[in-house]
Amino acid sequence: MISLFERENDKFRPEVGSQALSVIAIENDFVEGVYDKLSTVYDWVFGPILHPGRLCALERIDIRPGDRVLEVGVGTGINASLYPRYCRVTGIDFSASMLEKARARIRRKELPHIRLIQMDAAALRFPDESFDIVYAPYLINCVPDPVKVVSEMRRVCRTGGKIVFLNHFRSANVVFSRLDRALSPLTVHIGFKADLDLPGFLVQTDLHPVSIEKVSIPRLWSLVLCRKN
Ligand SMILES: C[S@@+](CC[C@H](N)C(=O)[O-])C[C@H]1O[C@@H](n2cnc3c(N)ncnc32)[C@H](O)[C@@H]1O
Repeated sequence: MISLFERENDKFRPEVGSQALSVIAIENDFVEGVYDKLSTVYDWVFGPILHPGRLCALERIDIRPGDRVLEVGVGTGINASLYPRYCRVTGIDFSASMLEKARARIRRKELPHIRLIQMDAAALRFPDESFDIVYAPYLINCVPDPVKVVSEMRRVCRTGGKIVFLNHFRSANVVFSRLDRALSPLTVHIGFKADLDLPGFLVQTDLHPVSIEKVSIPRLWSLVLCRKN
């Protein structure tokens, strides 16, 4: 019997492979507009609350000397000082205002190992297999087409490289899952869908994570670590 607080076992939900990943459909222009407006307050609003996840992710990713890292959706560059100076980081984002903040931060903190480029995550302008680590912190529930973004992330990651997502996904608890769905039409106005379905996301992107770990307190965010094989 399915417990009151658990969603039906996803193995028995064959529709996960084809169903919409969220109740909300958005367009790039809309998301870009939201982040252009948010850029001045982003670090205050989403800085502290999302930071434990960022710290945990960097520890788990285990960046090695010389690694080429791509941060997809670099925003204001809030992760910038967390990257070790012995790696090379490329941060991309499509919001000019967010990137302007990131550029100022990188100048201020003197981080020459980080470069920033304005680009759409769904159309990455890098050759195949350009990076050892492709990392999307708090991005995948912002984009109109997560499946397309993952196919681009996979393409630019070298074989054997790491593809990593840090994100809030729709809760597995039936009560919170309904709440996520109800809130999603509102949360898109502050930059994210609250109800991205993790099992559907993994099936539709053909991702086979090495690990999925709940991070931060409360445990509302997941760190999904995959290897390209
Ligand atoms: C929630 S913020 C995450 C920022 C940062 N990674 C962090 O850890 O806080 C999401 C960022 O993704 C960017 N973004 C959303 N959709 C994008 C897309 N299709 N292509 C590039 N950047 C995108 C937004 O402009 C925003 O800066």
